[in-house]
Amino acid sequence: MRTVVLIIVALIIAFFLYQAFSNQTIEKEVAQAQKPIHPETIAAYQNNCASCHGVNLQGQEGWQNTLDEDGHRLAPPLNGTGHTWHHSPEYLFQVIKYGFPSFDPNYEGKMLGNDSLSEDEVWQLITYIRQEWPVQIQDVYNSRYE
Ligand code: HEC
Repeated sequence: MRTVVLIIVALIIAFFLYQAFSNQTIEKEVAQAQKPIHPETIAAYQNNCASCHGVNLQGQEGWQNTLDEDGHRLAPPLNGTGHTWHHSPEYLFQVIKYGFPSFDPNYEGKMLGNDSLSEDEVWQLITYIRQEWPVQIQDVYNSRYE
């Protein structure tokens, strides 16, 4: 009799644990699906960024230790393999819209900003870039900034 009760209790506990974990997965999937990326955002990336940062956000070959023919730094990857995810959303906004000259007037490199994009378009680009990062990095980033 005791064994039967123990088995039933164990089954009940297992059932609730299963429920808790499966609910978590569902919530997470919903959270990630909440922000759809519009085709216009991908087009904006391809038209304004891909020539330097690559069609897949992979950056330029040798970006860590090589300079281009003008002596400027190469474009880093935006896909989570570089530093991008170490910066706050506000910093990324500033860099993308107004470029490095907005931090340093003497800046002579290639990231000059994209003032022709609207604020909304820049935020959409940031959402797109963030969703290209590995899920673990997205989780760390979300816990820092949201
Ligand atoms: C003409 C080439 C060029 C274009 C076009 C360009 N970038 Fe960049 N970007 C760079 C370079 C080079 C850097 C590194 C700056 C440096 O070190 O001088 C950079 C840096 C950045 C950074 C900071 C990355 C980090 O890891 O700290 C972000 C974010 C970024 N670019 C996003 C974009 C986005 C989004 C677009 C399009 C809207 C874009 N860039 C267009 C060349 C470019």
